[in-house]
Amino acid sequence: MRVFVTRTLPGPALERLREEGLEVEVHQGLLLPREELLKKVEGVVGLIPTVEDRIDEEVMDRAGPGLKVIACYSVGVDHVDLEAARRRGIRVTHTPGVLTEATADLTLALLLAVARRVVEGVDYARGGQWRAWHPELLLGLDLEGLTLGIVGMGRIGQAVAKRAQAFGMRVVYTSRTPKPLPYPFLPLEELLAQADIVSLHAPLTPETHRLLNRERLFAMKPGAILLNTARGGLVDTEALVEALDGHLFGAGLDVTDPEPLPPEHPLYARKNAVITPHLGSAGRRTRERMAMMAVENLLAVLKGLEPPNPVV
Ligand code: DGY
Repeated sequence: MRVFVTRTLPGPALERLREEGLEVEVHQGLLLPREELLKKVEGVVGLIPTVEDRIDEEVMDRAGPGLKVIACYSVGVDHVDLEAARRRGIRVTHTPGVLTEATADLTLALLLAVARRVVEGVDYARGGQWRAWHPELLLGLDLEGLTLGIVGMGRIGQAVAKRAQAFGMRVVYTSRTPKPLPYPFLPLEELLAQADIVSLHAPLTPETHRLLNRERLFAMKPGAILLNTARGGLVDTEALVEALDGHLFGAGLDVTDPEPLPPEHPLYARKNAVITPHLGSAGRRTRERMAMMAVENLLAVLKGLEPPNPVV
C-alpha cells in the first residue's frame, strides 16, 4: 500500500507511517510540478498534500480507484475539490486547532510590523540612513484604543481577538452568524466603516472569493490597515494595490492572490505592504503537530476507522 507525501514534513510523523508497514514516497524539493504530481499519485491509497497542490478530479482519476484518503497538511481545504472526492467516496481530512495560536501570533506580528513601520525601520537602519534620532521619523499608528474588525470568528479569529485585547484594542467581528462572544457582532459593511484594522480569518469558498472587492476595500476607513493571514483569494489584489496608494495606511499579507506572489508584482513596491510567504503555521512545534495529525487521519481511514478530523 503506497502513500504519496508531496513535501518532506518536520518531525517523526512520516516514520510512523513506515512503522505501520506502508510504502511512503516523499517528494524532495520545494516545487512539485503538476506532471510529477500526476505521475506520483498513480496507484496510491493515500495522499498527503500541502496547500500548494491542487487536488482536483484529474489527480483523483490518475490515482485510481484505490485512493481512499486525502489527508491535507493544512486546516484550509480550498485546494481540494471536495465534491469530486465525495462522489468517489474518498475521505478528506485536515488539521484544525493545532495551528490556531501560531497563525494568531503571525497576524499580530504583521499588525505590529505595519502599524509601527518595522520593516521600513529595518531597511532604513541597514541602508545606512540612520544618522540621528528625530521626533518625526517613521511615525506609525498607536494600537491602544483602535478598533480591530475580525472577519471570520472561528478559532483563529478568536485567538487574534484575545491578543488584540491585551494591546488595549476594541474588538468587533462579523461571521456567518453571531456567536455567544464578548465582542459586538456587526454586518460586514458596518465593520468596514468602523474598524481601524480589518483582519481576515474566513475560509476561501465560492461565497467568500474576493469578499474584499474594490468597493469594500475603498469602504474601509481612510488610514486603516488590512491584515490577511487566511487566503489570498479573499481580496481583490489589483484593487488593494490601488488602495495602498493613499487610501489605506498599510497591509500585512501572509497570503496573496496569486500565490506565490511573483517577484515583479507591484505589491512589493508598496512600502506600506508587509508581505510574508504564507508562514502562518510555521512554528516548528506546530508544523510537527500538523504532520502527526495528517498521519493519524490517514492511518485511521486506511484501518477502516472514522478519522479524527474529517472534512468529507
Ligand atoms: C492552513 O493550514 O490552511 C495554512 O494555510 C497552512 O498551514
